[in-house]
Amino acid sequence: MLPAKPFSYPGIDGDIERLSSLLAIALRTAAWHPPESPTILNLACGRADETGILLKSLSPKATRLFYLGIDLRAPEINEARARWIPTAPYEWDLDFRVADASHTDRMKLLPPFDFIFVRHQNFWTDVSVWTELYTNALTALAPNGLLAITSYFDREHELATACLKQLGATLLTSIRHPQSRALPDVPGKSVDRHIAIFKIPQNPIQSLP
Ligand SMILES: C[S@@+](CC[C@H](N)C(=O)[O-])C[C@H]1O[C@@H](n2cnc3c(N)ncnc32)[C@H](O)[C@@H]1O
Repeated sequence: MLPAKPFSYPGIDGDIERLSSLLAIALRTAAWHPPESPTILNLACGRADETGILLKSLSPKATRLFYLGIDLRAPEINEARARWIPTAPYEWDLDFRVADASHTDRMKLLPPFDFIFVRHQNFWTDVSVWTELYTNALTALAPNGLLAITSYFDREHELATACLKQLGATLLTSIRHPQSRALPDVPGKSVDRHIAIFKIPQNPIQSLP
C-alpha cells in the first residue's frame, strides 16, 4: 500500500476518501476479481491524486503490478511522478508519461490492461478527441478487463456513457454518488458525481455484410 501524503489543495483528501468508497461499491457490483499481477491504465490522469486508493481498491494483495498514468500535461505528470513513484514498493512498476492518448498507433504499443480508469473525463470539451480516447481505451482492454469513468456533470455522464455503448462497450454499473462534493464554479457540478464501469463483450456482435 502506498503511504498517504497530504494533498496540496483543500478538499482533495475528502474527495479521494469518497472516491474510494464509491469505487469499492462499483467494483463489487461489476464483480471485479483482482488478477494476481494486474495491469492498470489511468488515462488522462492529470496529477493522478487517486493513485493510492485506486491501487488499494483494485489489487489489495498484489505484490507485483504495472500501473501507467498518461496525460498531455507535463506539470501534472511530474507532480504524479514525484508523489507516487518514490513511495511505491520495489516490485510495483509505476510509470507516468506525457502522451497524447488519442494517437491510436502509439496506444497500440501498450500491453493489454486489466483495468482502465478515466477520472473526470471531459467528454464534451472535444467529442471527437474523447471518442478517440475511448476507442483506444477499449482496444487496450484485456479480454476480461474493465473500463471505469467518473463524471462531474449529469449530462456529461449520459453523453460519455452513450458514446461508450455506441463503441460496443457493455455497461455493467452506473452509480450516482450521493455525497459528492459540490463545486461552486458551475451549477450542477460535483466531484466524482457519477461512476460507471464497462466491459467489452467476449464475442462482439459482427455486423452483417
Ligand atoms: C478534467 S481533467 C481530469 C484530470 C484527472 N483525471 C483528475 O481527475 O484530476 C482532464 C484531463 O484530460 C487530459 N487530456 C485531454 N486530452 C488528452 C489526450 N488526448 N491525451 C491525454 N490526456 C488528455 C487533460 O490534460 C486533463 O488533465
